[in-house]
Amino acid sequence: MPKDKFDEYVENLQNNIHKEETREYNEHIVSLYHDPKNWGKPPEDEITISKTYEGPCGDTMSFYLKIKDNIIERANFLTDGCGASVAAGCQTTLLIENKSVDDAEKLEPEDIDAALNGLPEDHKHCAELAIRTLKRAIDEYKLLLCLKAEEKEKTFRS
Ligand code: FES
Repeated sequence: MPKDKFDEYVENLQNNIHKEETREYNEHIVSLYHDPKNWGKPPEDEITISKTYEGPCGDTMSFYLKIKDNIIERANFLTDGCGASVAAGCQTTLLIENKSVDDAEKLEPEDIDAALNGLPEDHKHCAELAIRTLKRAIDEYKLLLCLKAEEKEKTFRS
């Protein structure tokens, strides 16, 4: 079907939006924002631990981790934050999948920023939101392990 004026208008508009976005951010961030891998809450039986955290900017992020033998087999996320937070959450899940919990815990906001080829100065805190949420999820996972160990000990003694 030949392009009509409306199709051309929409195409131009999309191109201009893309140009504007990549000028403000970069190609990598824009592509993760438009096609965020690992977005969404997986089925309950695919979640070992989940955590939602509200950052100082008022936006929230949630992480859903499936962990087996201390390895993060699957990582998903959700956020109601800005485009940069979508890219930061997504990049974090990509970096921690198939890594040990201990390695994931060592990640810092600067690592996410570097993997994203640099967030704009006024959006550096979006990587902070992703890492704070991840660290809280890992803390919760460790607590869960302790509780399970205590439970086992009690059963063993009784
Ligand atoms: Fe709040 Fe980006 S502005 S996470």
